[in-house]
Amino acid sequence: MILIGITGGIAAFKMASLVSELVQEGRSVVVAMTEAATRFVGPLTFQSLTGREVVTCPWTASEGRESPHIHLARCADAMLIAPCSMDMTAQLATGRCDNAVSLLAASIDRSRTPVLLAPSMNETMLDQPSTRRNLAQLAEDGFRILEPNPGWQACRTSGRGRLPEPEELRESLLEALASSTRAAIERGDEEA
Ligand SMILES: Cc1cc2nc3c(=O)[nH]c(=O)nc-3n(C[C@H](O)[C@H](O)[C@H](O)COP(=O)(O)O)c2cc1C
Repeated sequence: MILIGITGGIAAFKMASLVSELVQEGRSVVVAMTEAATRFVGPLTFQSLTGREVVTCPWTASEGRESPHIHLARCADAMLIAPCSMDMTAQLATGRCDNAVSLLAASIDRSRTPVLLAPSMNETMLDQPSTRRNLAQLAEDGFRILEPNPGWQACRTSGRGRLPEPEELRESLLEALASSTRAAIERGDEEA
């Protein structure tokens, strides 16, 4: 199962194409969204595309015995957070986990399951020392950072900070899945 975390960036609309593509390939996809993300694209879009409930609230009870975030984190083969807001980079770099997306990310063992981050923001926000520091820290902590693209931005200027196109995100995700499967085989994990 692939976990997709969506945060409050203008590029959230691009995620509908990616999620649709993954589902059409027969992959099981669960989407989690921050409250800010739901202001850009409605959860109903992703619920319809995936056929599964969108995770927006960590407090929603599940029928099973496990907490929902622990269960989903355990079932995930990979997680992609895209767009990953400036705010989310700060949350993850400092270990905060007070929303559905950051809590799921915090519950994943990155030595076994890759967590990819696709930062996407205005160039000035990307160049803030805090963002640079947080991204460097996140790379050191084992998150895989996908470089944003240069090009047209929602602030109607060109700059670095564009979310990669859905096809590029898909390729990065599939590469990460393949390399974690190879690592699992080398470790001799049964489920690999
Ligand atoms: C119209 C609008 C567009 C925004 N676009 C972005 C963006 O592309 N990237 C970003 O990091 N923040 C962007 N923000 C700011 C975030 O939405 C804001 O920091 C929010 O608190 C992020 O919350 P989250 O990280 O919990 O999703 C935007 C805000 C507004 C009002």
